[in-house]
Amino acid sequence: MISKPVVVAVMLFMIGCGKQSSSEGPRKFTVGMSQCNLGEPWRVQMNADIKAAAEKHPELNLVFKDAQNDTLKQRAHVEEFVSAGVDALIISPKESQPLTEPVAKAYQGKIPVIVLDRAVQGDQFTCFIGADNRAIGRAAGEWIKNKLGGKGNVVELKGLMTSTPAQDRHAGFREGIERSELKVIFEADMKWLEPDARKEMDSALARFDKIDAVYAHNDPGAHGAYLAARAAGREKQMLFVGIDALPHEGVAYVNQGILNATFQYPTGGGEAVDAVLKILKGETVPKNITLSSRSFTPENSGAK
Ligand code: FRU
Repeated sequence: MISKPVVVAVMLFMIGCGKQSSSEGPRKFTVGMSQCNLGEPWRVQMNADIKAAAEKHPELNLVFKDAQNDTLKQRAHVEEFVSAGVDALIISPKESQPLTEPVAKAYQGKIPVIVLDRAVQGDQFTCFIGADNRAIGRAAGEWIKNKLGGKGNVVELKGLMTSTPAQDRHAGFREGIERSELKVIFEADMKWLEPDARKEMDSALARFDKIDAVYAHNDPGAHGAYLAARAAGREKQMLFVGIDALPHEGVAYVNQGILNATFQYPTGGGEAVDAVLKILKGETVPKNITLSSRSFTPENSGAK
């Protein structure tokens, strides 16, 4: 037999539960953000852009994970988000091939996936957001070609070549310098990292007496190259061109006379949150969202 106080307690508990659910308010959505690393200022900015956009929408609960430039860790992070049952996933993958499978699994498990900046292979994701890296590379090539009057020796410091922006920035650059007498005399994969760029540039400087321009796939790379050239007393002999154009990084370098040009690479953080919100409302988003870019040089007076 159940005693009276127990019945009363159970009834009170049930009333309590009922009250709780009616005062719960609108539903919250958990969005997982898998960032490949936070070593470069550009990625810190991407997370800040996502956070700022999400803060305007109290129904969103953003959870960030930083893979610290470790592909296996990033794969595990995606799997953790999937088993936690997130409502949507944003990922900026370190490398395209190894992240393709976990992203596809999330997508096939009906979790909307926004891929940001670096692409995965195939089409098993909801939406890709990024600028046109091939066009940016081509613009950088054409800029150097014009600046050097169509001839000279160029060093190309490439981003991680297993990531799509590096592949596209490389291919676009080669298109940009086609039909010129510009020669790429040295190229190396600096994996997007300033210390690696500096080391590779040391080798280039040791091997070649005449270098007229350095094209680096990102501003940290261009800055690393500049530091190497300055240490060798040769920084005034060549142009330095990078990509990203963060106000407090690449654009500041242009203003300080360190870089001759940088090409903007927007983080897409705000656009990713917009896309998530649309998807959660049941709206469709385009498969590809291409962000625009511009150059910053002392001449175009955009460097402020
Ligand atoms: C940061 C970064 C940026 C670059 C982007 C390419 O990790 O290297 O400098 O533009 O990634 O994905």
